Amino acid sequence: MSSPAASGAASGSGTGKVIVLGEHAVVHGEPAIVLGLSRGVRVTLVSAVPESPGGQPESAPERALAKAAQVLGVPAPKGVVVRVEGDLPVAVGLGSSAALSVATVRALAAHVGLSPSDDDVAGFANEIERLFHGTPSGVDATAAAHGGLRWFEAGPPRRHEPVAAPAPLPLVVALSGSRHDTGRSVLGLRDRARAAREIYAPVFSAIGALVRAGRTAIEAGDAPRLGEILTMNHGLLRACGVSTPELDRLVDVALREGALGAKLTGAGGGGAAIALASGEPGELAERLSRSGWESFPVA
Ligand code: MEV
Repeated sequence: MSSPAASGAASGSGTGKVIVLGEHAVVHGEPAIVLGLSRGVRVTLVSAVPESPGGQPESAPERALAKAAQVLGVPAPKGVVVRVEGDLPVAVGLGSSAALSVATVRALAAHVGLSPSDDDVAGFANEIERLFHGTPSGVDATAAAHGGLRWFEAGPPRRHEPVAAPAPLPLVVALSGSRHDTGRSVLGLRDRARAAREIYAPVFSAIGALVRAGRTAIEAGDAPRLGEILTMNHGLLRACGVSTPELDRLVDVALREGALGAKLTGAGGGGAAIALASGEPGELAERLSRSGWESFPVA
């Protein structure tokens, strides 16, 4: 995943993700299921640029690099330019900040000759994630480092394992058209839950029950049941106040266009939704795109 290049450049990559089930509740002790995307972020540290400016890191990639040096316990590299490439839409709930953090850790590790395990990379990247949003559960960084379809529990202890689906999930990602702010969404819900624990705790438990039932449906290849669970999870996220009118409309349109189920994915408050196709995901993505929602299949 990371490689020192002969030119003096070192690079690393991280994958984007969709949360299939369990976002937000995962911050409050429930499990989640996450799927790594084929889209992601690649970071290259291009060295030996004499005129590269010093001073305080300002851009997100520069701040991520400075923090990566801190968490890896190595000196912040001097005279390098951080080049970021990728095909992942930013700030729409698809894990772009975690993918950037993982890619940065891997690039810096390659730069200084370290080879951390994927679990260590995820742990370091989660520390960097705190720069972008206060209290990450670690699910995004785990997905960005490992990819694949995973069960995740924040713990402690943090635990994750692959989920075996008999066939790839025919999921489509659809963008609601507005960006979101993960930190604000997570902290807003945390404050609401603190103020009324008796109302929110049962909802988080109900989401946890859906995640467990969703895993059973995935492993059994029961797509109609999984679709039902996705839509129900959306209803509970909406009840928690993290949906938007656009995301609700997008879910309705996806169901009208024949999806077996749909929900917002990630922190909500804007961003993206996922929909489970009953057939070819490319066809559902096309129908949603024709209805005005930019969409693409997960694979
Ligand atoms: C964001 O992709 C998922 C959230 O559950 C936050 C987190 O787990 O860190 C909303």
